[in-house]
Order: sequence, then structure tokens, then C-alpha cells
Amino acid sequence: MKFKKNILCIGAGYVGGPTMAMIASKCPDYRVTVVDINPERINAWNSHDLPVYEPGLDKIIKKTRGKNLFFSNNIEKAITENDIIFVSVHTPTKTFGEGAGKAPDLQYWEKTARQILENSKSSKIVIEKSTLPVKTAAAMEKILAPAKGKIKFEVLSNPEFLAEGTAIKDLENPDRVLIGSRDTKNGLKARQELVNIYSRWVPKEKIITTNIWSSELSKLVSNAFLAQRVSSINSISALCEKTEADVSEVAKAVGMDSRIGSKFLQAGIGFGGSCFKKDILHLAYLCEYYGLPEVAAYWESVVKMNEYQQQRFITNILGSMFNTLAGKRICVFGFAFKANTGDTRESPATYITRKLLAEQALVTISDPKALKNAALDLADIDENVKYEEDPYKAVAGCHAIAILTDWNIYRNLDFRKIYKSMIKPAFLFDGRNIVDHAKCFKIGFNVYPIGKPAMSHFKTTQKANSNSR
Ligand code: UDX
Ligand code: ADP
Repeated sequence: MKFKKNILCIGAGYVGGPTMAMIASKCPDYRVTVVDINPERINAWNSHDLPVYEPGLDKIIKKTRGKNLFFSNNIEKAITENDIIFVSVHTPTKTFGEGAGKAPDLQYWEKTARQILENSKSSKIVIEKSTLPVKTAAAMEKILAPAKGKIKFEVLSNPEFLAEGTAIKDLENPDRVLIGSRDTKNGLKARQELVNIYSRWVPKEKIITTNIWSSELSKLVSNAFLAQRVSSINSISALCEKTEADVSEVAKAVGMDSRIGSKFLQAGIGFGGSCFKKDILHLAYLCEYYGLPEVAAYWESVVKMNEYQQQRFITNILGSMFNTLAGKRICVFGFAFKANTGDTRESPATYITRKLLAEQALVTISDPKALKNAALDLADIDENVKYEEDPYKAVAGCHAIAILTDWNIYRNLDFRKIYKSMIKPAFLFDGRNIVDHAKCFKIGFNVYPIGKPAMSHFKTTQKANSNSR
């Protein structure tokens, strides 16, 4: 079959894979190729066991793979054959040199830009999909500038706003699609090509166009605002634990103000995921670079509050369990950074589990999708940690449960059965506020939610969540 357009995506990760699957599904007359330097990733995309767990993804992969969606290792050939190229390689935080711990590491992205230049025999539209610091497109233009003869590159910014666990829903019905371009004849023409793709399924009024810098910055700012809401409610959870207030009641009352809105006000053990921390640190780095240290410090405090919330959770476990965890069995329910994903990048569970192990606790980790990644994250630890998918088996013989991911299955477990199988006194630390605390207390658990009064059977006046007022 002859296809109308050939589209390429470099980088077959959490963003590249699902996004291209959606484009292939909505544009059957376009040929979509996805390439990656990691051959295992590509093999997995071509198998039954996809490298990314995402509800609904299997279905669209089945519908498109081998028809108009192809996964390949041959990056160079794919660049030559395609004229619309999405770049979706990762941009982790730099771990070395200038800006270490804050600035993005652009080596993967720059390598890709050079590869595009070397393998292009015709003009191309290059679309930034990865979250990149503001003005990266300009650097990409500079790398692509020495193109031979009549070959021209037009660089667009088209940041992805999908959230893991709801990626397919978000791609199918996005709040907005953002396209940044240059305001030149060629820039506007390239922009129209991209608008044509999205307008196959996204209403026109939801496709917004801006200059490149606004588009790049909007992605960072969206993530910073979302993370800021989580840190804001978590800061209030600490105050609630010192008073008689209940953070869920406060969040509900505050969120019903239509100017504020109810989303992203769920208190917990803090945000994880590959984006929030990284993007805020990018934003702070940019502010410092442009001589705005006060603005940088403001945004960095969002990350600091997130770290504080995780420390608080551990301090609370330790304090409630008589200041020693040595030799005690703790069952961790959920290791993914949020429900409905197997992704564990920056998951608060990693920090919390390491702290539990440092206290010489014996940890059993349970998770429906993330055990493989959990084992990789904790590969340097071979003692005192076990993995068990079945929550009932995992918890038997434990002193405490720590709920770290908001998976639905943990809401409806048979806590009576669980209580019976545990060592007494049994402790339940609900780091996501997802179980029925009163019911679990009645069963016999000592229950410690986030931002609400603890429910303890001990006669002492110990207030588990608070050290002192
Ligand atoms: C985020 C953005 O939502 C998305 O638009 C962007 O493209 C990528 O980054 P993601 O990291 O996949 O998506 O997940 P998200 O749903 O935003 O959750 C991030 C973290 O915040 C999770 O650890 C989640 O548990 C936590 N969270 C979220 C809370 O603790 N409370 C809330 O109310 C909401
Ligand atoms: P994201 O969450 O942004 O999608 P991932 O880490 O899941 O990030 O995916 C990025 C993908 O990009 C990885 O599969 C990685 O192997 C791939 N990648 C990195 N550098 C290159 C490159 N130069 N060429 C092709 N693929 C690359």
C-alpha cells in the first residue's frame, strides 16, 4: 500500500511508543515507524510483552502493528526514509559537571540531532517531543544548520502532556495539543503539517499554536504547577497531623472553589515519576541561569517539600513502632510511582524502602505491575528484601503494612484475613489514604493515615502522627 506520509519517531519509550501508536491508529493512511538505540526495547515492542504497561495500549498496538506501525532498530535508514521526525529520547538530569543535579543531560538528544543531519537526503520537519529546556530548539537548529545543498530543516516543539496510567485516554482526548513554531513561511507550513495530523481526531479549538519558546516553557510550567499542588496539599497534611483537621476534608472544601478546582489535591507520600522533579529542577536551573535566584528558590521548595513528606512518613513509622524496625517484617503494598503503571522512576517507594532497609527491617514488596522494575532499582541490595505479587502471601507474618501506591486492588482487600495472618500488634501506614481507616481500626490494626488523626489501640497518649504539638 502506498502511504500518504511517512512519520518517524526516534525513542521508543513511555512517550514515543504510545503516542505513535495513537497517531497510527488515527491516521491509517500514514506510515509510522518508531526506532530506538536499545534493541531489547524494539524487540519488546514487536512482541506480546510490551515494554510499557498502559491500560488500552495492547489493543491499539494489535490494531496497527505490522499494518502502518513499525518498530525498528535501523535508525539511519529510517531517518533517510521519513520526512516528519519526532524526537522522543529521554533527557535525564545531569549527574556530572556543570549543572549536575539540576540541568538536563542533553547528550542523547544532541546525538539524535547529529544523526538526523548525517542521514538526511531531503528536507525534514523535526519535532521536539521530549521535555527540553527552553531554547533547545534553537540549539537543534544550529546543529542542523550545516545541511547540504537544498536540504532544509524546520524545528517544531510539540510537548506531550500525557500522564502514565491514563496515556491512551489522554492521547485520545487531550485537554490541548500545543505546537510551537517559527513565524516564518516555512515554519508556518511545517506547523500546518502537524496540525493536519492531530486534527484527524482532536477538535480544532484544542490545537493551540505558539512560538517555540512559549511551547517549550509551557510544558515545564504545567508540570511545575501540578507538582506544586501536590506539595501544597502535602504541606497542609503535616499541619493537619498536628491539629484536629483532616486533610481530605480540607482538600474537598478548598477544591470546591471553582477557581482552585479539585484535581491534584490528594495528599500522600509525595510525587514521583520521570517528569515532575526533573522538570522543576530544569525550571529552577533556567531561572538561575537568567539571574533569577528568588524564582529558582521558589520552585525548588516544591521538590524540598516532596522530600520532607517522604522523610516524615519514615519518621512516623519508626516512632509508631517503638523506635526500632530491626528484624521487623514490613510489607510494602505498591512500588510504582502511581497506580496503573509499572514505572518506578523517582517513585517515593524507592526512598522509603531504602530507609526501611537501613533501619534493618525485613521488607517484602508487592505490586501488580512493578516488581521487575523494583528489583532493578534495588539491584544493589541482595539481603532483607523479597518480592511477592500476591498481597495476601506478601503480608503473612509481617508486623506492618506500608501502602505506597494507590492501586485499586489495595482498596478492597480482605483486611480481616490480612490482620489474622500478621504479627500483633499489627500496623497499617496508609501512605495514599486509600483504605477504610475506621474499618481497619475496628479489625484491630493501629492505623496511620496521612494528614488525619492516627487510630491506635495503645493505652498511652502517644499520638502516632505527631511528636508534640
Ligand atoms: C505528569 C503530568 O501529569 C503529565 O501531564 C506530564 O506529561 C508528565 O508528568 P505522570 O508523572 O505520568 O504525569 O503522573 P501524574 O498523574 O501527574 O502523577 C505524578 C505523581 O504525583 C504521582 O506519584 C502521583 O501519585 C502524585 N500525585 C498526583 C499525588 O500525590 N497527589 C495528587 O493529587 C496527584
Ligand atoms: P520518556 O518517558 O521520555 O519516553 P524513556 O526513557 O521511556 O523516556 O524513553 C526514551 C527512549 O529513547 C529510550 O528507549 C532510549 O533507549 C531511547 N534513546 C535514547 N537515545 C537515543 C538515540 N540517540 N537514538 C534512538 N533512541 C534513543
